[in-house]
Order: sequence, then C-alpha cells, then structure tokens
Amino acid sequence: MELAEITADNVGDVYDLVVAPGQDEFVASNPWSLAQAYAERHIAWPQAVVVDSTVVGFIMLQFDPDDDDGRPYQLWRLMIGADHQGKGYGRAALMLAAEECRRRGATELFTSWVLGDGGPEGFYIGLGFVPTGDWDEDEKVARLTL
Ligand SMILES: CC(C)(COP(=O)(O)OP(=O)(O)OC[C@H]1O[C@@H](n2cnc3c(N)ncnc32)[C@H](O)[C@@H]1OP(=O)(O)O)[C@@H](O)C(=O)NCCC(=O)NCCS
Repeated sequence: MELAEITADNVGDVYDLVVAPGQDEFVASNPWSLAQAYAERHIAWPQAVVVDSTVVGFIMLQFDPDDDDGRPYQLWRLMIGADHQGKGYGRAALMLAAEECRRRGATELFTSWVLGDGGPEGFYIGLGFVPTGDWDEDEKVARLTL
C-alpha cells in the first residue's frame, strides 16, 4: 500500500469511490473533500490510498500550526471504498499517515468522529485513539500519541 498524491491520473478514481450504504452520515463525500482540499490547500494534505495500483480509499490530513483548537496535526478525512473494506486497508492507511506526521515532527494526531451504529468509533479506539473529552460540534475528539 502507498499513499499517493492526487493527480490527473487518479483524481477520477478518488472522485468515484463511495462508502457502503448507511455510512455516508459518518464521512463527507470524496467530491466535497477534494473541493475542500483545493480551497484549503495551505493546510490540506489529500492522498489516494493505493493498493497494487488500485485506488481503494482516500485520506486527508490537516497540517496547520495555527489551528484554533491547538490541534495542528489532524486526520481530516478517511474512507475506504465499500468494495475494499474489512481487508486491513483502513488501518494500514492510518499507520502510513501517522508515519508522515512523525516525519514532520508531530508527537500526536487528532481526529473526531460522529457517533452512531455502523460508525467508526470502534475502529479508531481499536487503533489507539483516546477521546480527549472535547467535542467538535457533534463529533467526539480523540488523540493518538505517536
Ligand atoms: C472506518 C473505515 C475507514 C475502516 O477501514 P477498513 O479498511 O474497513 O478497516 P480495517 O479492515 O483496516 O479494520 C481494522 C480493524 O478495525 C476493525 N473495524 C473496522 N471498522 C470498524 C468499525 N466501524 N467499528 C469497529 N471496528 C471496526 C476491524 O474489524 C479490524 O479489527 P482487527 O484489527 O481486530 O482485525 C471504513 O470502514 C470506512 O471507510 N467506513 C466509512 C467511512 C467512515 O466512517 N470513515 C471514518 C470517518 S471519521
């Protein structure tokens, strides 16, 4: 697996990737994430999740030293396409993202998630994220120590 820059060659595959029915309440669509990545390109690090030359997911980090909430390194978006879930790709992509954060000098990575049946809370807790007690609107904030 690799995390790959979004290019003219892979942007269509990223754009078309969707989550399973009922999961869209837990993550924004890739077209919207790509639009935000452009609009906020000064802090956004969008990457295609690629396995054997196939785009299986999308991940976006935020690198913002001036983050209002004191969370400069954040996992902004993570999704694995419906047909590719349950194969360890989500965990592997998150580990590669954590490596990138360490490489940039981070000691912790933050994220937040929407609660609900079928939501990603168990995934993140299982990978070591610990809720901080804070909320970002209706999303529970958590920290992964790197
Ligand atoms: C959440 C998501 C990224 C996980 O990716 P994935 O490739 O399916 O997960 P993996 O196969 O890497 O699973 C890693 C581990 O987490 C567990 N896991 C995966 N999804 C889980 C969930 N929703 N709840 C609890 N545990 C979960 C797996 O069982 C596996 O456990 P194991 O280590 O005991 O084998 C993916 O299911 C997805 O894109 N969901 C929809 C969008 C979403 O919710 N994104 C997060 C928004 S904050």
